[in-house]
Amino acid sequence: MPIIYKKAPAKIILFGEHAVVYGQPAIAIPVKNVCATARILPDISKKSGHIRIQAKDIQLNADYANLSKDHPLAASVRLTLEEISPVHIPSFTIQISSTIPVSAGMGSGAAVTVAVMRALSSFLGAPLPTETISNLTYEVEKLHHGTPSGVDNTVVAYEKPVYFERGKTLEALKIKHPTHWVIADTGEKTPTHETVSAVREKHAQNPEEYDAIFENIGCITKKARRTLIQGDMDNLGKLMNQNQSLLENLDVSSPRLNTLIEAARSAGASGAKLSGGGRGGNMIALGRSDSIKEIVQALKKAGAERVIQTILTEVAGR
Ligand code: MEV
Repeated sequence: MPIIYKKAPAKIILFGEHAVVYGQPAIAIPVKNVCATARILPDISKKSGHIRIQAKDIQLNADYANLSKDHPLAASVRLTLEEISPVHIPSFTIQISSTIPVSAGMGSGAAVTVAVMRALSSFLGAPLPTETISNLTYEVEKLHHGTPSGVDNTVVAYEKPVYFERGKTLEALKIKHPTHWVIADTGEKTPTHETVSAVREKHAQNPEEYDAIFENIGCITKKARRTLIQGDMDNLGKLMNQNQSLLENLDVSSPRLNTLIEAARSAGASGAKLSGGGRGGNMIALGRSDSIKEIVQALKKAGAERVIQTILTEVAGR
């Protein structure tokens, strides 16, 4: 049996985080410069069905049988096995690693799950379709943060820019003009479930005010969809800035995020905002090709822990 090696990219949300949990649309893109990988090595020295899980980034080296059913890595393996129901399970070790910053709004949990499911289903000779992988990853996402919208598993599994609305048919965005994005990490780690819970509490205390904010974010995201397709970069940047103000009203920004956002804007970004759960993690800036270098330098000078550039080139729709 050959060694199997599969990857899955990170993601970044351009518009609509948090509001998407409450039924509003979101726009997200894959970020392929950083990724999660899963490698499966068959182990013929053990009797069949012995599964070892190794994830050096989190110092995990354990038998699958000894992990809790709800451990996200064990759950990724379990759901794949349940979906395929193989007649025979050979013994193997699955090695997981990732270059995606953790608890930083870039979908590292979803990427690890997708990579594991891709590798394991291929190893068992029954590679799962993208839609199934996305749906099963959603189940694992629930273990990470309770009420996920489904945007992370969707963009990571499909590896396409998406306009996502819970419960609606997925739209792969047709982007005609290349767009340059700069992503900077504050270095502050905040798990998504914490910010999602904080917003949920505030929404419960003041549903009218929060519903109005979510609706405004939804309007911005709808406008951003058209603007992105048309390639109107100046207006896209303005919409990012408006989205950021509303995220500040939701109290999910942070002083470090605000510093990086301000630095990117002053260095010529058309717009900048936090991305993902917030209260730390990453921000994203939209640059013109002639301003990227300045934006990157400004972000590093303002204290960004890591800066990633990504270009969205022409993407055909599905
Ligand atoms: C997390 O990447 C984005 C949030 O909107 C949560 C979710 O959509 O599940 C904050």
